[in-house]
Amino acid sequence: MVEDGHREQFMKNRRSNEWFQTPGYHGMSRRAWLRSEGFPKDVFDGKPVIGICNSWSELTNCNAHLREVAQAVKRGVIAAGGIALEFPTISLGEMFMQPTTMLFRNLMAMDVEESIRANPLDAVVLLCGCDKTTPAQLMGAASANIPAIMVPGGPMLAGTFRGERLGSGTDGRKLFDLYRTGRLNEEEWSEVESCIARTSGHCTVMGTASTMTSLSEALGMTLPGCANIPAPDSRRMAIAELSGRAAVELIEAGLAPARIMTRQAFENAITVLMALGGSTNAVIHLTAIAGRLGIRLEARDFDQISRRTPCLANVKPSGEHLMEDLFHAGGVPAVMNRITDLLHRDCMTVNGKTVGDNIADAQVQNDAVIRTRQNPLFAEGGLAMLHGNLAPDGAVIKQTAASPHLMRHRGRALVFENRDEMNARIDRDDLPIDRDTVLVMRNCGPKGGPGMPEWGHIPMPRKLLNQGVTDMVRISDARMSGTSFGTVVLHVAPESAVGGPLAIVQTGDEIVLDVPARKLDLMLSGEEIEQRLRALTPPKPHYDRGYGRLFLDHVTQANAGCDFDFLHALPG
Ligand code: FES
Repeated sequence: MVEDGHREQFMKNRRSNEWFQTPGYHGMSRRAWLRSEGFPKDVFDGKPVIGICNSWSELTNCNAHLREVAQAVKRGVIAAGGIALEFPTISLGEMFMQPTTMLFRNLMAMDVEESIRANPLDAVVLLCGCDKTTPAQLMGAASANIPAIMVPGGPMLAGTFRGERLGSGTDGRKLFDLYRTGRLNEEEWSEVESCIARTSGHCTVMGTASTMTSLSEALGMTLPGCANIPAPDSRRMAIAELSGRAAVELIEAGLAPARIMTRQAFENAITVLMALGGSTNAVIHLTAIAGRLGIRLEARDFDQISRRTPCLANVKPSGEHLMEDLFHAGGVPAVMNRITDLLHRDCMTVNGKTVGDNIADAQVQNDAVIRTRQNPLFAEGGLAMLHGNLAPDGAVIKQTAASPHLMRHRGRALVFENRDEMNARIDRDDLPIDRDTVLVMRNCGPKGGPGMPEWGHIPMPRKLLNQGVTDMVRISDARMSGTSFGTVVLHVAPESAVGGPLAIVQTGDEIVLDVPARKLDLMLSGEEIEQRLRALTPPKPHYDRGYGRLFLDHVTQANAGCDFDFLHALPG
């Protein structure tokens, strides 16, 4: 509650006064119309207005429980003396949206930004879960820059299939390989469907949803310990209520996102990304969120931090355990405590305390899940940024989910012009490949996909699976689900559809991948590359109207975060 001595400052910080304290007709009508929702007269007696920005949707199963979470947030807001007004935005459900949710992340970010800015809100609570809903809300809130706090919906509980715990996505793909090679029958496959996603919440592994919600905590945008609480756990509701109370306090403190999400906070988030073995998608999303605040993140920022940060979280797809295990082991605060020396501890967070204060007492409860510094899962961070003549503006590989024997590899390319061609050919018995072949797929980037879909995890060819080969080098300008695994090079920039060198690779060309040296090269002379690039004709655009046209006209490349060029706040 606001003490009398602070009331003057508190009232000054309130945007909602512009709507509700205006003299004359407009003030009266705004109060009257809000009272039509059943609020009493004293609702305008100095109470701050807290928006609850809800990405609930029955089309987004991961966020389908967020209206219940919103009720807990409301209790907290009211207990702290505020008014809570819940509002919807578009939601992005990873499982359903075609061609990809990534096509609509920026649309949701615009919806969030303008919904906050246009309304009488003094602060906002952001309810997210499924992959893109977290970065979209952070991007929008960063641009609107009024006090904001995030409450993710939390991960699902693990499924169990014939005695084995299932991590959604990761184990689904492994079991699918068994099914399509005849080692799992129809009945067993149907049983997998019934138990792999058995509760509310987002995916159970360190996929993009778990990564981005964990990084929102590392950035300081959630209460400490919030991100990893499983969705069905009663503590999810308790922390939602506490977040509602904290939202009211944020106004008095004037703690808007730009004061929390500083360059140092992003460096903390990248450090935690590496320690968690988080999703490759986080590189794009963090770059986009930072860009909204005028902070330029580049490949070298990620790579330098990756080289000095051990991967400690033994969670699928890099490790063995699941998100609820990470929660029971201490969650993000315990991981951060283990790498305290690598963090900027004086960064401010939404509870008004510093990162250092928040993690000082966090303890690891299980060294098998959160490894010690002496026994890391991987000596370096989860991600490695690659450069070379095949990726002049960069590419990324999740080295912790790749095969050690392929980290230095030389092989001849087999090129798929697009995903349709790949799907049509990948399981043919006459596919001209062996275990050293490098699969190349193009036209899957921001403009070529369109929307840079998660198609980069090219399935292993059945011909090789039948020979017992379970991994090979795969390269594309696509993204990959954070739940996927394998020696998969992603985000090649510039993408092929805008004339990046990926467009000129021919079947039989030799490619060298050297992850320790961070290199990705096409073994052709500069002259030959130039000649082939000059002969290229750009593909026909996917859209000539509507939002799709806006997207194609303004989306930036992967290394710039795939935001729209007119939405970032970067100089130059
Ligand atoms: Fe929503 Fe996996 S489908 S997080």
